[in-house]
Amino acid sequence: MKKYLNTPIKEIITNFPQVGNILEAYNIGCVPCTLGSCLLKDIVSIHNLPKDQESELMYRIEKVLYPDRDVKKPIIGNLLQKEAPRELKYSPPIKRLVDEHVLIKQLLTLMPKVIANIDMESDFDRQIILDSLDFIRFYADKFHHAKEEDILFEYTDKNLDIIKTMLADHETARAHVRAVFAALKTQDKKSIIENLNAYCALLAEHIKKEDEILYPWIDRGLTTKQVGELFARFNEAEEKMNMEVIEKCKRFIAELAQKVTKLKGRE
Ligand SMILES: [Fe+2]
Ligand SMILES: [Fe+2]
Repeated sequence: MKKYLNTPIKEIITNFPQVGNILEAYNIGCVPCTLGSCLLKDIVSIHNLPKDQESELMYRIEKVLYPDRDVKKPIIGNLLQKEAPRELKYSPPIKRLVDEHVLIKQLLTLMPKVIANIDMESDFDRQIILDSLDFIRFYADKFHHAKEEDILFEYTDKNLDIIKTMLADHETARAHVRAVFAALKTQDKKSIIENLNAYCALLAEHIKKEDEILYPWIDRGLTTKQVGELFARFNEAEEKMNMEVIEKCKRFIAELAQKVTKLKGRE
């Protein structure tokens, strides 16, 4: 089993597709991951499953990898008394990033309504798109992603797949934003819609991974001193930002729900 613990997951899934199904049953989405060079042992550790679930998962995987071996079934406590779903707790600096996600998720929730009703001839509609792009560029990217890239990820090994995936997501998100700007110039409604939809789908998934897997995993590895240092570095980074722009972004989100109702042809 040690050999497989140190094998990239894509290689295992290619040879044993059932392992992918097992991981998915534990909400570990390795099958759609484009990189897939995470080692099996890292995946198990990053997801921090309750002990019972982890033993059960490893037992099921080992049964697939070694069908002829007499794998000992782990003694798992009474299923009815399984651990209650764990509440995610974050250190104060990480909690700040989670709170920033809340604002970004509000945009992601409202964007389908904007997209469904967009009228390219309307200045009001075009302005909503431009303001949304400003929010994405200044709040989601310069304010939030920059703190992750320049500060938080320094507390991890940047060669890990999970970090590479997060950085690649940020780049893909930026490419969608550039594409929307270009499409606005040429009035290419189809491209605006496609790229905004793609941005929203990407960010929703990205934020979920950060909130539920990456941030708790980073938090578990931080010392108290590092938590304090992270907090101070986030403050320092924010002091260099134009906070007026950030406040404008927050106001835009607060007013967006109301503006969406004014879009033409709304349901
Ligand atoms: Fe991120
Ligand atoms: Fe994030």
